[in-house]
Amino acid sequence: MSEPIYDERYARPGLYWGSKPTGLARDLVRIVRSLPRRPRTLVDLGSGEGRDSIYFARRGYRVLGLDISSVGVRKAGQRARRLGVNVRFVVGDIRTYRLKHRVDVVFSSGVLNNLPRRIRAARFEHFQANTAPGGIHAMNADVPKPYIPRQTTNPQATPFRSGELLGYYGDWQILDSGQVEFVSRSGGVPHRKAMDVVIARKPESTS
Ligand SMILES: C[S@@+](CC[C@H](N)C(=O)[O-])C[C@H]1O[C@@H](n2cnc3c(N)ncnc32)[C@H](O)[C@@H]1O
Repeated sequence: MSEPIYDERYARPGLYWGSKPTGLARDLVRIVRSLPRRPRTLVDLGSGEGRDSIYFARRGYRVLGLDISSVGVRKAGQRARRLGVNVRFVVGDIRTYRLKHRVDVVFSSGVLNNLPRRIRAARFEHFQANTAPGGIHAMNADVPKPYIPRQTTNPQATPFRSGELLGYYGDWQILDSGQVEFVSRSGGVPHRKAMDVVIARKPESTS
């Protein structure tokens, strides 16, 4: 499997996204500290060069990193091995990938805009159904704003509607949610972006 834009970026020397974990990964680790039970297993949807997967594995999670770019998957695996960190990286497509076991955490940063609108609800349903009771989702998605000029570095991506991401978590406990604006450097041209962010916990039981 390949994704030409990302394959090309990941084939370059160095780390396209850098080695530091995303803010979402750090927020998740902080929030989880206050929970009664520590999650153990985590899936990183769209793991890229593995910066967040490696960060989680170093904190004791059993991590599966999934990405459509085989170049990214190979690079992430090589980096993890070099650092002596145990992470399983696999090539897969978030549009079709089916989790085979229930996991404690589903994490995705900078990726969900690659889910076409017509399959989004079904995909969220699948990932939620395969999350353990009390498990966590930490997700973000780009949202368009009329006052931010649209800059498409990935023509296949479809933005979420403002608030759409939170809408998939109506029955879950919302641990953190909001919208952030920042300057992205993806594609080499700095541009402003707005992003919805949700960290949510699946109920232990439904009444
Ligand atoms: C903006 S990058 C973020 C990478 C990583 N989450 C990070 O923050 O370092 C988006 C990633 O999504 C991956 N991606 C795009 N479409 C995908 C799909 N349909 N299934 C799985 N991964 C996909 C790309 O290959 C790329 O690695």
